[in-house]
Formats: sequence, C-alpha cells, structure tokens
Amino acid sequence: MTRTASNTNFDRIAPVYDGLSRLVFGNALRRAQTEHLSLIPEQAKVLLIGGGSGWLLEQLLKRQPLVKVTYLEVSPKMLQLAQRRVANQTSDLPRIDFRLGDENGLQPNERFDVILTPFLLDLFPDERLLYLMDRLCAALRPQGLWLFSDLWPAQAPAPVWQRLLLKSMYGFFGLVSDVKASRLPDFSEHFARQPLQLQASAAFYGGLVQARAFRKV
Ligand SMILES: C[S@@+](CC[C@H](N)C(=O)[O-])C[C@H]1O[C@@H](n2cnc3c(N)ncnc32)[C@H](O)[C@@H]1O
Repeated sequence: MTRTASNTNFDRIAPVYDGLSRLVFGNALRRAQTEHLSLIPEQAKVLLIGGGSGWLLEQLLKRQPLVKVTYLEVSPKMLQLAQRRVANQTSDLPRIDFRLGDENGLQPNERFDVILTPFLLDLFPDERLLYLMDRLCAALRPQGLWLFSDLWPAQAPAPVWQRLLLKSMYGFFGLVSDVKASRLPDFSEHFARQPLQLQASAAFYGGLVQARAFRKV
C-alpha cells in the first residue's frame, strides 16, 4: 500500500469550506486555531500542514511577521486560495514556501521549530494517522512545538449531540472529500506514542473542539 493512497480531496468543497465551517461552528474553530499562536518564537521555522484556504496562515503572519513558513497542502484549490489570500497582504511578507502535497513532500532532513496541524488529524484512519504523526514528529526539532487543533471531545463518553454531529460530519466529508476515517481517532493514544509533553490546552464549542500545545522532549 502506498502511504498516499488514502489522500483526501478537498478541491470540490474548497470555495465553500470556510463558510460552511463557520455556519456550523461559528468562531470556535478559528479560536481554537489561534489559541496558542502566541507561543511561537519570533523567527521560528514553521510547518503549517493542511491549512486549507489560508486563514490561519494570514493570522500567523499578522502576529509573527518574521517567521518562515512551509505551507504544505494536498488540495491544489486550497493551496491556490491560500496563495491568493496572502498575496493581498503587504510586501514585507516573510518567505513562504507553498508546497503542493502531503507529508511525503517533506525532505528527510528538514526540521521545524513549530508544526501546526489545524483540523487535519481527524481525517485519517489509525494506520495512516500513525504514519503521518511519526513523520511530523521526526520533522520537529527537540524542544519544538506542535500546535494541534481538532475535534476531540473533552468529555468521555461524548454527549449525544456531539456524537450525532460527528457522525453526520464523517458521512458528509466521506462523500464529498473522500475522507476515509469514519470516526475520530483516539488522540490520547496517538499523542502518548510520541515524545511530546503537553504544555497547554483549551476547549471550545461545548468541549467538542480542543487546542493543545505539545513540546517535543
Ligand atoms: C478539514 S480541512 C481543514 C482546513 C483548515 N485547516 C481549516 O481548519 O479551515 C483539512 C485540510 O487538510 C488538507 N489535507 C488533507 N490531508 C493532507 C495531507 N496529508 N497533507 C497536507 N494537507 C492535507 C486538505 O486538503 C484540507 O485543505
């Protein structure tokens, strides 16, 4: 099996994705994505993977204009939207390396001070997620930061409304975006496998959404 065989396809939904997510979640997903941006050092080398249409990239550059960013996105349409979005910003932008592809587009020796995974990790079944997280953790420098934001019920078992919402979301994105997962991964288990220490966390949207900052040890 190739590791990219199960890539998603967000091209079809790219033009409406942001509007749709705000319709369902209001500002919660945006607040989760920016919750820990203040922890990013001034001149950090940042990997933003699965950033979609570039809203988080824009926020990152506003807060830390000196960072160097590798923007890795597997959907050509999403990547194009992100490029257009920041092209409208001022000319003293730092260099941004826009890269079309998935985690296999990282060079074996590339290392980052910070990795951002905004609403990316919930897309994958366990085996692919293991591979992706191993690959990302290897690309993170010792003491580097991993800023995670995703659907991760803070309450176990999750309340019925959260389970229903998750079920309908997986059904929808399975059809529209070829998302192969049909349920949330066990993030506690996946993060426990990695040499990462939890630094900070916050919950949003009645505890369905979490932002977590991990440091590599
Ligand atoms: C659920 S969307 C979230 C988009 C954005 N982070 C947000 O919250 O608005 C997931 C994004 O990750 C991208 N993606 C999925 N798998 C990827 C991979 N392996 N490498 C890079 N990007 C990926 C998709 O194309 C899509 O744009």
